[in-house]
Amino acid sequence: MSDIFEKAKKTLTDLAAESPLDSEAIEAFRIRYLGTKGLIKSLMEEMRQVPNEQKREYGQLMNSLKQQAEEKYQALKAELEAKADNAAAASLDLTAPGDPMPLGSRHPLAVTLNRIVDIFTRMGFSVADGPEIEDDWHNFTAMNTPEDHPARDMQDTFYVVDAPGILLRTHTSPVQARVMQQRKPPIRIIAPGRVYRNETISTRSHAQFHQVEGLYIDEGVSFADLKQTLLYFAQEMFGTPKIRLRPSFFPFTEPSAEMDIWLGTDSEKNYRLTKGSGWLEILGCGMVDPDVLEICGIDSKKYSGFAFGMGIERQALRLYEIGDIRLLFENDVRFLRQFTSAL
Ligand code: DAH
Repeated sequence: MSDIFEKAKKTLTDLAAESPLDSEAIEAFRIRYLGTKGLIKSLMEEMRQVPNEQKREYGQLMNSLKQQAEEKYQALKAELEAKADNAAAASLDLTAPGDPMPLGSRHPLAVTLNRIVDIFTRMGFSVADGPEIEDDWHNFTAMNTPEDHPARDMQDTFYVVDAPGILLRTHTSPVQARVMQQRKPPIRIIAPGRVYRNETISTRSHAQFHQVEGLYIDEGVSFADLKQTLLYFAQEMFGTPKIRLRPSFFPFTEPSAEMDIWLGTDSEKNYRLTKGSGWLEILGCGMVDPDVLEICGIDSKKYSGFAFGMGIERQALRLYEIGDIRLLFENDVRFLRQFTSAL
């Protein structure tokens, strides 16, 4: 009988001497001692042969064997996990630079527009808004371009078949009419927004672009005010020393002009951009036609005003020296990522 006791005691000392290191060895330890065909199980089966008076002692031996094997197994497993954690922590370099966080950038058109808005708000203009889906009356008639007037041909657009009076606005000028209908002078607004023309600028896109409209109406507003306002704008926006106003025609202004800024021909770039003249056309402008004031409910005997309208794309191209207008609409992040600005 002492054989079995000997065997059990030996198992106990063997167990204490075990030191499996990796997870495979630990699993082998578990199977050897605690498995269904393991040492402890087979020692338990020997119980039948133990004389009754020794059964209690043997049982206690078995219990402590089982408990020690279990505890040792758990301890070994915990130790192994801790070791893995430490290894991971050791390989973590807290001084390494973090993963880059890509910062967004504004679209060059938005930056350009924000600069324009910023300059005019400093001069007391506020921002007004109007719908892109406009009616014929605001887009043309109120802008002194009645039906069948040939000037409508200059701005062909997209009409709605079921609603002949509805169109995509061809310019931001209808916002002038909307503001004049709603407010009393003095009026000093700029109106940025998207406009549409039925022209093909490339095989892939129809003409959709952006403009900023300006309108100033009060008593005694003169052409000199127009000129000074636009000169200040051009100097702030482009740093140009001077502007030039060339006579032009728009149905809603009288007299009308086109404004050029002076870039000079010193650099090859400016020479090319200005086609050798040194002057670059930037916007259309003029004194608001008294007929337009009357159509929109403003007393043209008491009030006068000026208006102007400019394309934003053209200015963005100039500001950022972008060679192709289509780049502005293709949404290629490799292009867009290059523009960062606080504005
Ligand atoms: N609406 C004109 C266009 O799209 C631009 C323009 C010219 C606007 C003269 C004005 C202006 O307000 O006075 O071609």
